[in-house]
Amino acid sequence: MRGSRARSEQAANVATGFGPGKVILLGEHGVVYGHPAIAGPLSVGVRTRGRPANRCKLEVSEDVVGARRQQLLRAFDRAAAACGRPEVSVKLESDLPMSMGLGSSGAVAVACARVLLSAAGRSTSPKAVMEVAFEMEREFHGTPSGLDHTCSGMGELILYSRKPGSETPTVRRLKSPRPLKVLVVLVGERSPTKLTVAGLRARQARWPERYSRLFDEIGRLAREGAKAIEKGDLEALGDAMTVNHGLLSALQLSSPNLDEMVHRLRQMGALGAKLTGAGGDGGAVIGLFLEPEPAVAQLTKMGVRCFGSQLAGPKTL
Ligand code: PMV
Repeated sequence: MRGSRARSEQAANVATGFGPGKVILLGEHGVVYGHPAIAGPLSVGVRTRGRPANRCKLEVSEDVVGARRQQLLRAFDRAAAACGRPEVSVKLESDLPMSMGLGSSGAVAVACARVLLSAAGRSTSPKAVMEVAFEMEREFHGTPSGLDHTCSGMGELILYSRKPGSETPTVRRLKSPRPLKVLVVLVGERSPTKLTVAGLRARQARWPERYSRLFDEIGRLAREGAKAIEKGDLEALGDAMTVNHGLLSALQLSSPNLDEMVHRLRQMGALGAKLTGAGGDGGAVIGLFLEPEPAVAQLTKMGVRCFGSQLAGPKTL
């Protein structure tokens, strides 16, 4: 079935792309200042479908309006220009909650880059995809660390860092000898990443020494977390995540709703829990579980929006 569908799509000259969403296990925000962070891909993400057209364009759904629509179109235009504007009309489909800290803009960027490169007859290697996707991310975020689109483009659990001002990140794939599973809870609406990052930058500029101590410590937790993952020590990883949440809270990036959910997940048996992504007044919380499904069922019954996802390690049923 899959094979015949792929063949008929090819025959109709349809290009497709996929960019998975991501969760940051450790190190968000510190990563903007050159410290390491760990992120892993989700199974949900953004799909693009391109069909031949007389010019290169993005079909944006009617419900994306105002500033968001303009930003999406500007971002697409940067990627289109980087690919020589192939004559393709690109449609987006997503099963990823948008603007929740799950890397939706990075996933959009990767899915668009894949379809544009393939329509242009260019290489769709991860390196080529990530270069084009970074153009889009700059439009979305201003000064992104590059972690989101790199994780989405590679589709693997990674330890990532990039010195501010440098074009080239340091990326290491992390192998987990144990299944690494998280429960992702959608806590609620939040401000755009760009604003949260800018607010933190203003505090950091005012009190640089205090903030750099906290960023150093967050970076250390990411390095310790990477070692814990590679050793299969999920308890140590969970502890690093909970401590990381405390530091994000100290940086004024948490809220009562996020804190309450972190406590709730730990009471439900999480080895560790924290906000993930930019945080602020809402967004998502993750809990590290040996097996998240019972907690997913319990929370879903109470009306909490959540899902489980395996980020790395041997696949289990
Ligand atoms: O909330 P998201 O998915 O936009 O992730 C932001 C992660 C930050 O570290 C806060 C910003 C960045 O550029 O890495």
